[in-house]
Amino acid sequence: MDPVKIGIIGCGNISNQYLELARQFPILDIAACADLNLDAARAQAEKYNVPQACTVEQLLADDRIELVINLTIPAAHASVALKTIEARKHVYNEKPLAVTVDEANQMLAAAEQKQVRIGCAPDTFLGTAHQACRKAIDEGVIGRPVAATAFMLCRGHETWHPSPAFYYKVGGGPMFDMGPYYLTALINLLGPIARVTGSAGIQIDPRTITSQPLNGQTIDVETPDHVAGTIEFAQGAIGTIITSFAAAHSPHDRRHPITIFGTEGTMQVPDPNNFDGSVLVCGVADKEWREVTVEHDHPNGRSLGVADMAHAIRDRRPHRASGEIAFAVLAAMQGFLTAADTGQAQTLDTSYDRPAMLGLGLSDGVLTEPASAAK
Ligand SMILES: NC(=O)c1ccc[n+]([C@@H]2O[C@H](COP(=O)([O-])OP(=O)(O)OC[C@H]3O[C@@H](n4cnc5c(N)ncnc54)[C@H](O)[C@@H]3O)[C@@H](O)[C@H]2O)c1
Repeated sequence: MDPVKIGIIGCGNISNQYLELARQFPILDIAACADLNLDAARAQAEKYNVPQACTVEQLLADDRIELVINLTIPAAHASVALKTIEARKHVYNEKPLAVTVDEANQMLAAAEQKQVRIGCAPDTFLGTAHQACRKAIDEGVIGRPVAATAFMLCRGHETWHPSPAFYYKVGGGPMFDMGPYYLTALINLLGPIARVTGSAGIQIDPRTITSQPLNGQTIDVETPDHVAGTIEFAQGAIGTIITSFAAAHSPHDRRHPITIFGTEGTMQVPDPNNFDGSVLVCGVADKEWREVTVEHDHPNGRSLGVADMAHAIRDRRPHRASGEIAFAVLAAMQGFLTAADTGQAQTLDTSYDRPAMLGLGLSDGVLTEPASAAK
């Protein structure tokens, strides 16, 4: 199969993971790196043997490039994606898809008009452990899922991050930063979200930075640093999610921050920020948890969603880490905040399917298709 020629826009921290992992997928041919800061693009091209480092405009003008991986900062996700779509290239954004639902709507409409695809992180739900959760749930191991809890609580990032202000500005906060991992994992397991409600507050303001080099500076908190949401899934399960940058020493099990409760048992789901981890289930009548065997054996890591998208382009089938799912996640995140502001539950569009489960196994670095594309 012809590899897909890829350009990377945004050569910061996370680009290392993409450039490293992409090597494991022959379908991905990383042809060029670009960044507002040309030195950053040059450095990554040299480090990972990418043939070209260039400006964003040069990359977008290169007709050989079919797909752009957009690894810029969240505030630039929509503008870079729109330019890419305008250049008639497929685009795969880091999370979140965009900072507002309006921006994301513009992106989806533009992609439809230009007949190109949008993909979006996170792709951790394609990881071997999360696919094992999906398989076990689809096989009825815990019966019909009736409820879920998801927790991401910490005290914030000003103690370690060198430049933490963006975490406390609009488009940041614990929900927009970490919610995509948890909500995408839940949609993969339980399907579309029909309605959300929530409470949110700015609980600790201002923040004093204790990391270097900005030690001692303060940050005004402009977006809720604690968001509690209730999620009604279209299939009937009721979820509770809490994301917080205002909670010190949360005692929940960080290795299994998501729990799915079913009519026949309970499942502990590993950290959705990771691709692997142990999957534990306990039947209603059981006394002990047992570990589910993870059968998928494809490579784990950031690039998996892009590799699936590249195969999907060649095979003319839907890709899994899609703009549609990322849009649903963004709408739910914005829904929690709007519900908190207005006191009104927010009804969401449910006209999308769960992404199909990944097939078992991998031959020569090529992702295999599932025996049956379960919805
Ligand atoms: N760092 C992580 O651990 C991590 C993990 C998961 C996801 N992410 C996501 O990845 C994305 C990037 O994060 P990062 O940590 O690599 O950030 P970063 O600040 O290290 O890198 C971002 C890069 O994008 C470039 N850039 C910004 N605006 C641009 C534009 N308009 N055009 C071209 N280049 C532009 C910057 O010059 C910089 O080199 C974010 O969306 C973040 O949410 C990061």
